[in-house]
Amino acid sequence: MRVAIYPGSFDPVTNGHLDIITRGSKVFDKLIVGVLVNIDKVGLFSIEERVELIKRVTSHLENVEVVSFNGLLVDLAKKNNARVILKGLRAVSDFEYEFQMALMNSQLDAEVETLFMTTSAANSFLSSSSVKQVAKFGGDIKGLVPDEIIDDVIKKIKG
Ligand code: PNS
Repeated sequence: MRVAIYPGSFDPVTNGHLDIITRGSKVFDKLIVGVLVNIDKVGLFSIEERVELIKRVTSHLENVEVVSFNGLLVDLAKKNNARVILKGLRAVSDFEYEFQMALMNSQLDAEVETLFMTTSAANSFLSSSSVKQVAKFGGDIKGLVPDEIIDDVIKKIKG
């Protein structure tokens, strides 16, 4: 069985993430979305909330599982018998950081391959932080995050 891990912070999940999850779910037998528990960074949503939001927008994808993790990504991969780390690449600006992480992960576990999927053009400018900024200043986030979570994001940002 071909299992891949799609890791990230997902604070919150965007249409760019959902696009990669949807396309990735067609390429692999099982796609595990791994939400990083980062104790150094306070997010907008708690880890449990992020997991719930991703579960909500991927409930129609039968081979997608959502988990939270702390520690090393390669350990999560090993624990789940995943040979692939799936990452989305938006622009050249993503490349250096992603390249560094891919090399580090391959140094840590040579059995795990990082594969990159290019985002759809429509989502190439999207990031969780820009979505939060737009929402904070009252901009329209329709089309940026899945419709099912728009109200959650607005409510959370307004406090
Ligand atoms: O959405 P993000 O914040 O860009 O995702 C970053 C993530 C979760 C992919 C990265 O921080 C990560 O893999 N963290 C786990 C720690 C780890 O394995 N570090 C070694 C590789 S650099």
